[in-house]
Amino acid sequence: MAKPERHVFVCMQSRPSGHPKGSCAGKGSVDLFRAFQNAFEARKLWGRFALTNCGCLGPCETGPNVLVYPDGILYANVGENDIEVIITEHLLAGQPVRRLYPSEEIWPNDS
Ligand code: FES
Repeated sequence: MAKPERHVFVCMQSRPSGHPKGSCAGKGSVDLFRAFQNAFEARKLWGRFALTNCGCLGPCETGPNVLVYPDGILYANVGENDIEVIITEHLLAGQPVRRLYPSEEIWPNDS
């Protein structure tokens, strides 16, 4: 297996309803992950890039959260409409999508 250029992690953590932290799954990340899979398939990105669902990444309040390595860039409140720009600008062109950054206190993307 070749080392992927970038690896996208989509938080799919779920928690019981009413839990004080909420969860990314409770805010639509299951559908978001499926949409990412469909986009990877449509663009034939498998192999060059990797896509993995994962558990809690930490800042649950800003979910659905998506983390891209090796850059260590966290995207917050990601919706299906954001997938195209993440793929086009970040994965393919290497330019992180700043408008999807959480605050520096949540995740210091620039440090
Ligand atoms: S539940 Fe997704 S970051 Fe915590």
